This record gives sequence, structure tokens and C-alpha cells, in this order.
Amino acid sequence: MIEIVEVAPRDGFQSIRTPLATKTKVDIIHALADSGCRRIEAGAFVSPKAIPQMRDMADIAAALQPKENVRYMVLVPNQRGIELAINSGFTEFGYVFSASESHNQNNVRRSVQTSMDELIRLVDYLHSTPIDWRLRVNLATTFDCPFEGRQPTHRVMDLIAFIQAQVPQAEIALCDTTGRANPRQVGELSAALLETYRDQNTTWAFHGHDTYGLGVANALAAYAAGIRVFDTAAAGLGGCPFAPGATGNTATEDLVFAFEESGIPTGIDLHRLLDVADTIAALPGGVIGSHLRHVPRARL
Ligand code: COA
Ligand code: ZN
Repeated sequence: MIEIVEVAPRDGFQSIRTPLATKTKVDIIHALADSGCRRIEAGAFVSPKAIPQMRDMADIAAALQPKENVRYMVLVPNQRGIELAINSGFTEFGYVFSASESHNQNNVRRSVQTSMDELIRLVDYLHSTPIDWRLRVNLATTFDCPFEGRQPTHRVMDLIAFIQAQVPQAEIALCDTTGRANPRQVGELSAALLETYRDQNTTWAFHGHDTYGLGVANALAAYAAGIRVFDTAAAGLGGCPFAPGATGNTATEDLVFAFEESGIPTGIDLHRLLDVADTIAALPGGVIGSHLRHVPRARL
């Protein structure tokens, strides 16, 4: 069994400029849960000036129904985001920073070093709270930066060593922010990390985009290397506003199909998921991807 983290409500919705109604977002999150998605990134506690689409997170939180066996996670760029998320009742956080200096500046308006210092602070802060929290750290531009290109492997390994030392029990996500990674690169880095940290509690995740059509291939390369958690977005919705040229995440339906056809269960009902993907694809202002949505349902 692998774990899919459905990120359309965050990585996808953030790419849509027109404000979506809170109810529309919440209905989609619930429908994703009902299709079998057991982990959902429900949004982001970020500056409303940076991503206006995420300004109703507190309202989304209030309307979200807890569902059995479904975990909701939210993205945060700083401790402020964690504090707001906790106030809204969330206990799972995805902290993001980039391997490349220029993408980090563009995305969170600070140096990589400042983001690393913030990670130390927010872990201390989390330890000081009574809540039973889980932290994921998303390392954006692990493989490629829209401004600097391919990142040196030693730099990525050093950053991951830092993250792992701060929060050994974290889930660390290798993010192919631009979708320009290739299966060999993903496979080699994933294998090196799993080997280096084989005696640790760290969980590894692969967050892929499908810009160059390699999203599924890259995820399967990560799987072959031992990674079992994958971020995808229903309908392939998305495109980071701070990564020019990148399109949406690998479509959830495409990766579910790839795994299920290979005999690897995902827990997701493909037909129900495709119905939600159709709803997402019909949202005004969204840019979508996906292969499976174009296949006649009778052929699935
Ligand atoms: N949630 C909500 N509001 C926040 C916030 C958060 N996590 N962090 C800061 N803010 C608010 C501040 O209160 C301030 O509000 P004000 O202008 O009304 O006083 C404003 O945002 C600016 O705060 P500042 O600390 O100066 O941040 P900044 O302007 O340097 O921006 C970030 C830094 C990280 C807050 C911003 O760049 C951001 O939210 N980026 C996220 C981008 C993103 O989501 N990218 C896609 C994901 S990969
Ligand atoms: Zn992304």
C-alpha cells in the first residue's frame, strides 16, 4: 500500500487567481476524502498578500468535517503560519523552503539560511505546545530551480541532513517544483537518502509536477527506490505562482492508475476520484493536466 497526499486544495487552488467560494473548496476536499484520499493538503496558512486564494483558511477549517482515517495537512512558510493553523485546529503542518536561494527568495522572501533558522525556531515552538503534532518539511527545487537550474546533489544532501537532524521523525518531501526532474535523478537521490537514513524514523515523500510529462515516471522511480508517499493533484490542477513555467502536479488519477495497474493498492476509488477531478477541471481559471480524464470511462 502506498500513500497518496492529495494536494489539489493547496498546490492546485493556489494557482487560480479568481477567488473560489469557501464552500466550493470544502465540498471538493470532502469529495476527495470520500473517494478514498486518506491524506489531503487542505490549504496554506500563508500571507494573504502572497496567495490571496488562501485567505479563507480559518473558514475552511471551521467547515471541514473530520472523517475517519483521513488526515488533513496545511502548508506553512513560517511560525506565524503554524500558530494560525493551530488556532484553527490543525495538527499536521508542511513547512516549505527551497534548496535554491533564488526560488526561496521568490517564494518566501527570505534567504535559505533564514528559512533554516525558522525551522529550528518552529520545531522548538511545536515542542512547547501541548498538541500531538506532525511535521513534514517540503524541500522545494530539490531537483531543479526555475531560475538556477539543476541543484548540486551535495547541497541537497546537506540541506536534508540539516532537516533530518532537526526533526528526525519528520516526513521529508523531495519536491520537483518545476517538473524537470528525470527518473534517473529521482531514483538515485531517493536511493541515496533511504540508504543514508535507513536506521532512522524519517519518512520520505516525493512531490512531483508533470510539466515535462515525467510525473508518473518520476514517482515510479521514487517508488522503486523505496519511497511510499506521493503528492499528486486531482485533474493535475496547478502551477506554482512563484515557479514560472511549471505546470500542475502529477494528476492523482494518473498515478493511481499506474500503481493499481501494477498491483500496488492506493485505497482510492478511481471512478469516484475521476468525478471529483471533473469538478476540479470545471473550476473557472484553473490550468489542468491529466491523461486519465480523457480516456472513455468504459475503457478504464
Ligand atoms: N499567514 C498569514 N499571514 C501572514 C503569515 C502567515 N503565515 N506570515 C506573515 N503574514 C502576514 C504578516 O502579518 C504581514 O501582514 P500585514 O502586512 O497585514 O502586517 C504580511 O503577511 C507580511 O508579513 P512579513 O513577515 O513581512 O512577510 P513577507 O512579506 O516577507 O512574506 C511570507 C513572507 C513567507 C509570509 C510570504 O512570502 C508567504 O506567505 N509566502 C508563501 C508563498 C506560497 O505559499 N508559495 C507557494 C507554496 S510553495
Ligand atoms: Zn508543487
